[in-house]
Amino acid sequence: MPATVTRSCEAPAKGQESASPTSLRLVQLTDPHLFRDPEGCLLGMPTRAGFEAVLALALERSRPHALVVTGDLVHDESLAGYRVLRERLDATGLPWFCVAGNHDRWSLMRQVLGARALGPIELRELGHWRLVFLDSRLPGETGGRLSAEQLRALDKRLAEGRAPTLILLHHHPALIGCHWLDGMGVENGAELIALAQRHPEVRAILFGHIHQAFSAQLDGLSLLGAPATSVQFLPHSPTFALDHKPPGYRELCLHDTGDFDTRILRLARYPSAPCFAAQGY
Ligand SMILES: [Fe+2]
Repeated sequence: MPATVTRSCEAPAKGQESASPTSLRLVQLTDPHLFRDPEGCLLGMPTRAGFEAVLALALERSRPHALVVTGDLVHDESLAGYRVLRERLDATGLPWFCVAGNHDRWSLMRQVLGARALGPIELRELGHWRLVFLDSRLPGETGGRLSAEQLRALDKRLAEGRAPTLILLHHHPALIGCHWLDGMGVENGAELIALAQRHPEVRAILFGHIHQAFSAQLDGLSLLGAPATSVQFLPHSPTFALDHKPPGYRELCLHDTGDFDTRILRLARYPSAPCFAAQGY
C-alpha cells in the first residue's frame, strides 16, 4: 500500500535567493503528454504549447544546471513526439534525464532519447549530489510498482555512498488525498519510503503522475510532486476534476551542505484553456 502522509500547500521554500555560488539548480518538468501533431490536445489543451512555455519559463526564471522529466512524456506513442522532446531538451544545452510514465512506450522512448531514458534503476551524479532514477511502471497498468530486484538494487546503490541523494520516479509512493489518484500510485510505495528512511542521505523522493503540486515531510525525508506542463488535476478532489491553476514546474536548489530549497513556479495562465468540465481522459 502507498504510505499515508500529511500534505502541505505549494508555498516555497526559500528559493534561489538563498543559493550559494556552489549550489546547483535542478528543474523538474513532468507529464508533458506530447503528440505527433504540433497542435495535439489533451482535454482541449495543446500540450506542446504548454511544454514549450513552461520550459521557457524555467530557463528564464530558474537558470537551471540540469533538467529532469518524470514521465508521461508522449501521449500518443509516437516517435515524432519523442523527437520533439529531444530537440527541445537538447536545445537547452543542459544535462537532462527522463524516466518513463504509464503513457510512455519504452521502446520508442529509448530509441529516441538513448541513454537519457533511465530505468529500471540508474544513478547519475550532479555536483555533490546523487540522483537515482527508478522506472515504476507496471506493463498495461495506470498504477505502478517497484520490483524486489529494483528495491534490492536501490538499497545496495544507496549504501555505496554518503552523498545527498534524490530519488526520482513517475508514480507517487504515498497517498496524496485525491481518491481517484490514490489507487494509481506505487503499490508498494510504503516499502520505497521505508527503504529511503533507512538511508539518511536520501533527502527527497520526487515524482510526477499526479499533475499537481504536492509536498509532505516524513522525519527529514521530503515527498515532492510537481504540476504538469499539461493539464492540472484538482487537489483533494475525490473524483476526476481539472484545476484552473496553470501549468508549471518544480525548482530545487541543491546546496553543497546537503540541504535544499524548493518551490513551484507556474505560467501566468494556460496557453489555451482545457475543457474544465471534462470528467476523465
Ligand atoms: Fe500524466
